[in-house]
Amino acid sequence: MNPNNGKATPLSRLTGKGIYPVEYAGWLLNPLRRLISPPSKIVKRLGLRSTDRVLEIGCGPGYFSLAVARAVRQGMLTLFDYQDGMLDIAERRLKKRGIANFTRRQGDAKALPFADNDFDVAFMVTVLGEVGDPAAALKDAARVLKPGGRLSITEMIGDPDFVSIAHLKEMARGAGLTLERRYGPRFFYTCNFTKPASKA
Ligand SMILES: C[S@@+](CC[C@H](N)C(=O)[O-])C[C@H]1O[C@@H](n2cnc3c(N)ncnc32)[C@H](O)[C@@H]1O
Repeated sequence: MNPNNGKATPLSRLTGKGIYPVEYAGWLLNPLRRLISPPSKIVKRLGLRSTDRVLEIGCGPGYFSLAVARAVRQGMLTLFDYQDGMLDIAERRLKKRGIANFTRRQGDAKALPFADNDFDVAFMVTVLGEVGDPAAALKDAARVLKPGGRLSITEMIGDPDFVSIAHLKEMARGAGLTLERRYGPRFFYTCNFTKPASKA
């Protein structure tokens, strides 16, 4: 199931590097998290339009998904995660609140099961470092974005898989993405990148 650390226990996977264990999904929904990273903050940083098609890579149990789906009422949110268990929780949370403008898909961020130029915005919050090959994940995220689309990466120090801004910028350059804007300090930052508009 877990390509990065198959032999580890849920607890060692929680505290070590690799995919966040679904057994601890509830921790990601802890109301205390709202003090540091309220979903509204991420929604603001994403700069969404109500008609946007949005891909949430590594949605987990949907802590941010509810606010994002509400921000794109005439658009669509695609929940994407490696673990079906996370998708099940996220789907339940959204359905319970009457949200219908979403779909779900399981897979690996390194090879997204979506067509080229499909989304206006893709985002990851504390996910990139968990992906076995983050550079490949950025390249594939760029592929599925429409020209002019935005890839937003949020990272928080304390996460065992934290990706520094310098490393992120280097990988994003390799994916052909342009830094549009950075929010927050180095220990809790969001970097928004743009996929260059295609030349006519
Ligand atoms: C730390 S959790 C963060 C979840 C959510 N973004 C949040 O902040 O609440 C990381 C999530 O990324 C997912 N993930 C890790 N590696 C992945 C991969 N290669 N492809 C897709 N999802 C992945 C995990 O299953 C987990 O749900």
